Amino acid sequence: MSYSLQVAGRSRVVVGSAVAELPQLLPAGRIEVLTDRNVLKLHPELFVGCQPLVIEPGEENKRLQTVEAVCRELIRRGADRSTFLLGVGGGIVTDMTGFVASIYMRGIPFGYVSTTLLGNVDASVGGKNGVDLDGYKNMLGVFAQPRFVVCDTLLFSTLPAREIRAGLAEAVKTGIIGDEGLFALIERTGFEGLCRSSKAMDEVVVRSVRLKAAIVSRDEREQGERRKLNLGHTFAHAIEKCSREMNHGEAVAVGLVLAARLARRIGVLPAADEERIVGLLTALGFAIEAPVPMSELFEAMTKDKKSECEAIHFVLPTAIGACEIRTIPFVELAQWIGKL
Ligand SMILES: NC(=O)c1ccc[n+]([C@@H]2O[C@H](COP(=O)([O-])OP(=O)(O)OC[C@H]3O[C@@H](n4cnc5c(N)ncnc54)[C@H](O)[C@@H]3O)[C@@H](O)[C@H]2O)c1
Repeated sequence: MSYSLQVAGRSRVVVGSAVAELPQLLPAGRIEVLTDRNVLKLHPELFVGCQPLVIEPGEENKRLQTVEAVCRELIRRGADRSTFLLGVGGGIVTDMTGFVASIYMRGIPFGYVSTTLLGNVDASVGGKNGVDLDGYKNMLGVFAQPRFVVCDTLLFSTLPAREIRAGLAEAVKTGIIGDEGLFALIERTGFEGLCRSSKAMDEVVVRSVRLKAAIVSRDEREQGERRKLNLGHTFAHAIEKCSREMNHGEAVAVGLVLAARLARRIGVLPAADEERIVGLLTALGFAIEAPVPMSELFEAMTKDKKSECEAIHFVLPTAIGACEIRTIPFVELAQWIGKL
């Protein structure tokens, strides 16, 4: 059983037993495949009959040097403008694939097989692609839609529990932004239950993709509503900049808790909803405190690329399933953060 959703009218996301549909999704002609060393080792069945380009795993490799190396290899292999680039991997591989494909010979078509939960529910969907620069997350990038995204939850059988948990942080985020039912499903099923049930996992992915697809389709270039998808991420990016202790999803979990605390202090989120958010993330096994002092986070946050003119666009939850975007001046933010 598989489900098909459209993003921005031109990117198809297939969820479920989706790898089986890959041959029908791929165009005729030359295809180059990009993956990382872990995925190649764990899922050789995805690379039968092809010689993929392989990058090293890890956020520290999501950078221009790797982009250059991949482009050089594409040139060496004689890839031209009609070559299709297929990224097979987690968010790092798909972010890199979209970026490389968008700049190689001014753009070649591309698509993804997303192999992590975080990739399924967030990174592979929506057309944001990019790499980090000097510790700043996703500082260099483009908006470009993949032709298709294949999300097959059976590939999670090899994912370490830590990576599944990381993906759930983004799914919880999606629930808070606009799908109370998704939040409740995760609450009800719990971490172990979701790992055991591919039906429940498929539902988490479908609901997450559906909400993201709807928002991206209305605001592809993040002029307004799409900013809501950054809930928890201003804190999370600052955490990732200051500490290597946490992966992206773990940093997002702390970011969600801090955003909920801030929203409750400002007076837009009822205390009961804040408790529900903190309760769910704790039950899922996340550390919910920042690994560095708040003063350090503030310093890193005010240098985040999303900050504009001495103020920051902050996404604040107002209920489970609703949020608002507020522009908060740095001076005011410093006061709030001192109290969190
Ligand atoms: N473009 C976007 O809109 C967007 C949104 C959210 C996050 N992101 C980015 O996504 C990245 C994080 O994505 P991620 O968590 O998927 O990271 P990742 O790509 O690093 O994957 C996590 C780890 O799991 C391994 N792996 C991948 N698939 C596997 C499988 N099926 N079985 C076993 N191991 C597997 C990888 O090799 C890696 O070691 C970050 O760079 C983040 O900035 C982008």
